[in-house]
Amino acid sequence: MRRNKVSVIGAGNVGATTAQRIAEAGLADVVLVDIVEGLPQGKALDLAEAAPVMGHDSTLTGTNDYADTAGSDIIVVTSGLARQPGMSRDDLLARNAGIVRSVVQAAVQHSPDCILVIVTNPLDAMCHVAIDASGFPRERVIGMAGVLDSARFRTFIAMELGVSVEDTHAFVLGGHGDTMVPLPRYSTVAGIPITELMTPERVQALVDRTASGGAEIVALLKAGSAYYAPAASTYEMVDSILRDRKRVLACAVLLQGEYGVDGLFVGVPVVLGRGGMERIIEIALTPEESAAFQRSSAAVRELVEKLRA
Ligand code: NAI
Ligand code: 2OP
Repeated sequence: MRRNKVSVIGAGNVGATTAQRIAEAGLADVVLVDIVEGLPQGKALDLAEAAPVMGHDSTLTGTNDYADTAGSDIIVVTSGLARQPGMSRDDLLARNAGIVRSVVQAAVQHSPDCILVIVTNPLDAMCHVAIDASGFPRERVIGMAGVLDSARFRTFIAMELGVSVEDTHAFVLGGHGDTMVPLPRYSTVAGIPITELMTPERVQALVDRTASGGAEIVALLKAGSAYYAPAASTYEMVDSILRDRKRVLACAVLLQGEYGVDGLFVGVPVVLGRGGMERIIEIALTPEESAAFQRSSAAVRELVEKLRA
């Protein structure tokens, strides 16, 4: 039987941790690529040497050569600069656009049928760069942000109510930025909307904390940004695609009229399976939620227009 192959571009914090999760779950053989010589080779060897202890048979290869990524089922793009304190995601725009364009062009030459999972920030704008650079259909270019933002919301809900994270569900839509749209009405504990379980003030406090969840970690770390939860979120998407699980996850995808938005990558609930983004799930939004979603989309559109200017 052919084994799954995932290449992770960028062997930094998010890339290496994602590689670790995929390999240790035995989900796929992993190729780690970076522009820095020795870095992906060293991290891949270190991860490979953990395999006998962790008990998996995934191979780990570190390389600076895209030929080694040939035939990948999924290419995860994490290469680029991470946010530093005081730096917004948007500051990263021009630098990371150049990096994402070049790595996607190189990677898809060797894996023309792969699915691209984009992680590099500013996320929604980088998805536009990736779809343009690859020429792929929208089903095969998917951005990771909503899973992370929803995971943060779930964490805060569980902390607030003293319940297991396992019983929480949350949906965060919109762009991956300060204008993201956590939806309390669709966020539940064992099926009970959180609006039934806490005061509007506490709900709003959790919503605000979720929207600034990335900045909270940056401020604490002082150098670099979050990577454990981002890697776990990327892993969840890769798992759903490779195992054709049809998980319903919030991901950035190219909207073509859904939610009243056309020609823009924005986070919405989608079904993820072996075909990539197999379906967009449209849910009814209240006028307030819809206005917040449109505001978030407008912020993404502004960045994309800056990119194309
Ligand atoms: P990092 O600095 O630890 O790693 C980035 C890696 O990319 C470095 O090893 C660097 O050498 C490599 N790189 C740079 N240019 C390259 C090129 N042309 N080709 C190949 N590799 C190249 O950063 P970290 O923490 O891993 O974050 C990576 C990106 O992911 C950042 O843009 C960050 O903002 C973003 N991010 C996005 C999240 C999301 O929710 N979408 C969550 C967390 C991070
Ligand atoms: C985060 O949300 C930096 O986008 C990254 O942690």
